[in-house]
Amino acid sequence: MQLGDLDAVLSIESTSFAQAWSRNMFLEEMANDTARVIVFKANGKLVGYLCFWKVVDEAHLLNIAVHPDFRGRGLGREIMAHLETLCRQEGLTTIILEVARRNGRARNLYRKCGFETTGFRKNYYPAIKDDALIMAKKLSAANSRETAAGGSGEAH
Ligand SMILES: CC(C)(COP(=O)(O)OP(=O)(O)OC[C@H]1O[C@@H](n2cnc3c(N)ncnc32)[C@H](O)[C@@H]1OP(=O)(O)O)[C@@H](O)C(=O)NCCC(=O)NCCS
Repeated sequence: MQLGDLDAVLSIESTSFAQAWSRNMFLEEMANDTARVIVFKANGKLVGYLCFWKVVDEAHLLNIAVHPDFRGRGLGREIMAHLETLCRQEGLTTIILEVARRNGRARNLYRKCGFETTGFRKNYYPAIKDDALIMAKKLSAANSRETAAGGSGEAH
């Protein structure tokens, strides 16, 4: 993500979440060595983004959204597949995330991508009065080794 992407990201962010990230929050993550903030474009238009933290050998997915006009076309799945590729390239073994219990779309997306519910955090989202489910996916060792042997190295 570049500074020039920020307005388009904020526009998607504000329509996607009750407790949206601010401009400063994105700027902080862009400057954070632990974080990866990645945008996805189709024909030059910014259609989605994600942010995750590298914590030892785990990726913590902190934010993901697809432009409202482009939802339901498989982009969410493509973005998640890209996240897995990046994680393997960086030697990460697990992806962890929190999702609101009532966010059926996102829960379906993660379930279809092979995530399992491992726990929950009560009242994690006070703005929407909802709990968070913790979901995780272990990246298979065989694939990690394959990618480590044949991968192109660091994502950035
Ligand atoms: C969640 C989100 C990223 C999914 O992106 P998307 O591009 O619409 O997802 P896809 O088209 O790849 O769909 C993937 C799966 O999600 C589920 N899904 C998509 N649209 C859905 C809908 N309207 N209702 C229920 N499930 C839906 C389906 O299981 C779908 O798999 P399928 O096509 O095999 O049935 C998108 O809806 C979004 O940006 N939501 C707002 C932000 C958000 O909630 N982020 C997650 C925070 S944890």
